[in-house]
Amino acid sequence: MQDNIESHLTENRVFAPPPEFAANARIGSMAEYQRLYRESIDDPEAFWSREARELLWRREWNRVLEWKAPFAKWFIGGQINVSENCLDRHLTGGRRNKAAIIWEGEPGDRQTLTYQQLHREVCRFANVLKRNHVAKGDRVIIYMPAIPEAAIAMLACARIGAVHSVVFGGFSADAIRDRIADSGATALITADGGYRRGAVVPLKRNVDDALRGTSAAAGSVKRVIVFRRTGNDIHIEEGRDVWWHRELEYVDGNCEPEPLDSEHPLYILYTSGSTGKPKGILHTTGGYLLGIYSTTKYVFDLREDDIYWCTADIGWVTGHSYVVYGPLACGATTFMYEGAPNWPEPDRFWRIIETYGVNILYTAPTAIRAFIRWGNEWVKKHDLSSLRLLGSVGEPINPEAWMWYRDVVGGGRCPVVDTWWQTETGAIMITALPGAIPQKPGSATLPFFGVDAAIVDEQGEEVPANAGGKLIVRKPWPSMLRTIYGDPERFEKQYWSEFKGRYLTGDGARRDEDGYFWIVGRIDDVLNVAGHRLGTSEIESALVSHPQVAEAAVVGRADELKGQAVVAFVTLKSGIEAHQELKRELREHVGKHIGAIAKPDEVRFAEALPKTRSGKIMRRLLKEIASGKSVTGDTTTLEDFSVLATLSGSEE
Ligand code: WT7
Repeated sequence: MQDNIESHLTENRVFAPPPEFAANARIGSMAEYQRLYRESIDDPEAFWSREARELLWRREWNRVLEWKAPFAKWFIGGQINVSENCLDRHLTGGRRNKAAIIWEGEPGDRQTLTYQQLHREVCRFANVLKRNHVAKGDRVIIYMPAIPEAAIAMLACARIGAVHSVVFGGFSADAIRDRIADSGATALITADGGYRRGAVVPLKRNVDDALRGTSAAAGSVKRVIVFRRTGNDIHIEEGRDVWWHRELEYVDGNCEPEPLDSEHPLYILYTSGSTGKPKGILHTTGGYLLGIYSTTKYVFDLREDDIYWCTADIGWVTGHSYVVYGPLACGATTFMYEGAPNWPEPDRFWRIIETYGVNILYTAPTAIRAFIRWGNEWVKKHDLSSLRLLGSVGEPINPEAWMWYRDVVGGGRCPVVDTWWQTETGAIMITALPGAIPQKPGSATLPFFGVDAAIVDEQGEEVPANAGGKLIVRKPWPSMLRTIYGDPERFEKQYWSEFKGRYLTGDGARRDEDGYFWIVGRIDDVLNVAGHRLGTSEIESALVSHPQVAEAAVVGRADELKGQAVVAFVTLKSGIEAHQELKRELREHVGKHIGAIAKPDEVRFAEALPKTRSGKIMRRLLKEIASGKSVTGDTTTLEDFSVLATLSGSEE
C-alpha cells in the first residue's frame, strides 16, 4: 500500500530545468520549444532545410520531401556522405586534435582516437574494403565487439557507399546466417573474439558456423575480414578470410568520400516483429543523418568539451545513432566501453565516469534497475560530479527508477531525458529537451521537432486526455525507415495499413492533461526483455524446430529487473515425456537458434494450448496464466475449457 502511495506521489512530481542549465542550453525555455515545434509541424520544409544547412552537402537538394505514402524521399537531388560529415568536416578547425572516440576494453585496455586519427583509420579501412572488392551498394555484415574498429568499419562502409548490417555480438550463428541470406551480403567483418564478463566470446567461430555448408549465406559471402582483438586461436579459411592488420599493410590513408544521393541506403538493421523472421529496417543517407544530428544536438545539448557516453552496444540502433553517427556528426567526444557493467565489480560504470570525467550518460532502465539492486554503496564510492545530464532509453522507466537515477547518480542536479524511439524511427521521437521541458518521472514528455505523434482508438480517432490508445505518427520525418529490405509489401502492411498513411508504432500510450506522453509498452506480439526487442513468433519457431516439440506459444510476463521475462508454453510430440532436463535443453536450443538473450526464463509443459474454435492461440489467457493471475474476461470462444485447468496447474 505504502508503495502505491509513493509511486503516485512520484508520478505527480515535476522537475523544471535547472536555471543554470537552461541559461546555457540551445533551447532554453518552453516558449522557445513551442515556437520551433509549431514551425516544424506547420512548415516542416522550412524547419528541416535550415537544420540540413548545418551539414556538409556535396550537392544541394532541389526538393525537401516527396511523400507518396508510405514511401518518403528526403532532400531529393541532394548528395552527401555520412562519413565525410562525421570526420572530414571536423578536420579544418580546432576539432582536428580533439578526441573523437575514447574507448575502454573490458580487461581495462584503453584507446583514444582524435578526429584526425579516426579519419585516417577510416580511410585506410575503406581502402581495405575496396581492395577486397566491396563496392558502392554492396551489403556488408559487421559482427564485432564494442571496440573502435566496429565504428571504423561502419564509417568505412559509409565512406564508399557500401551498406552495412551490424549483427549484435550476442546473436548466434543461425541469426548471422539468416541476416546474410536476407541481405545478400558479400563481405563480413568480424574479430577473433571479444570480452564479456572476463570470458572470450567466440565471434569468429560463430561466423564459421554460419558460413558452413552450402547455404545461401555460404554462397553469398566471398570475403571475411578478421580483426585481432583477443588473440585466441581461430580458423582462417584460405581464399575467404583475411586479417585486418595484414590488409592494412597494402593501403594508404587517402580515400575520398563518395558523394551519395540523399536516398542512398546507409544501413540495414534487423529487428524483431510480431510475425516471421526479423525484418531488415532500411535507413538511407541524408534524412537519417539529419535526424540523428539534430536530436543529438538538441536532446543532449552537447557542449564542445563534453565527454558523452551512451552505454548501448553498436549492434542495436541506439549504438548506431547515439554511439557512432550522432555524436560524431556533432563533432563530440563519444566514449565507448566494451564489456559488462558489473565486471569485475558492480561499480564499473561509476569508475569509468570518475576516471574519464563523463558529462552525459545515456543508458537503459534495465541497467538502472540492476544498479538499484546492487546497492547505492557502489555508486557512492565514486565522484560523479562531472555528470550534467542523464538520459534513458529502450523501455518505459518506472518513476522510482527515474528518481533513483536523478538523485543517486545525478546528485539531484542533472536533468533526466527519457527518450522514446524505435529502430524504425532512426532517431529520438518523444523526449524532454533538458533546458526547456519540465520533466515528470516516467514520462517521455513531448514530441521532438517535426514529430506529429498522437494517441488514437481502434477507429483511428484521437482519444481524450489520459485515455489509453495506440501511439501513431501522422507525418513523415527525415530519419524514418524507408522500407523493410526486400519486402515493401510487409513494410506497408505492418506500419501503414491499420490507419492508412499513418505510422503505427506498435506501442500503447496515453497523453496527460499537459500533453505529456506516457508510454505503456508494446501492444503487439513483440517483447522487450532488458531493453532488447524479441518477437514471440521467432522464439516459438526456434522451439518448434526442436524434434520433440509439437507446439509452442511464447508470452511476456512482467519482470522487476528486465521489464519483461519470456515464458514459453510447450506441448510435446506424442510419446515424449516431459522432464526437467528437457526444459534446460529447450532453453539452450533457443539460445543456439537466436542468442542467449532469447532463452525463455520459464518453460511450461502443457497437454494442449488454449485455442479458439478457428485454431488461434489465445495469448491473452496465456499471459494471465504466466503472470500468475486467475483467468478473467471473455473465454466464450475457447474451444476446450479443460485446457485452462491443466495449464494453470502445469508449473512443477
Ligand atoms: C521499442 C523499440 C529506441 C532504441 C532502443 C530500442 C520501447 C524505447 C522507450 C522509452 C518507453 C521505450 C518501445 C519501442 N521503448 N524507448 N523511452 N519509453 N518505451 O529500440 O529495439 O527498436 O525497440 O522500445 O516499446 O517500441 P527497439
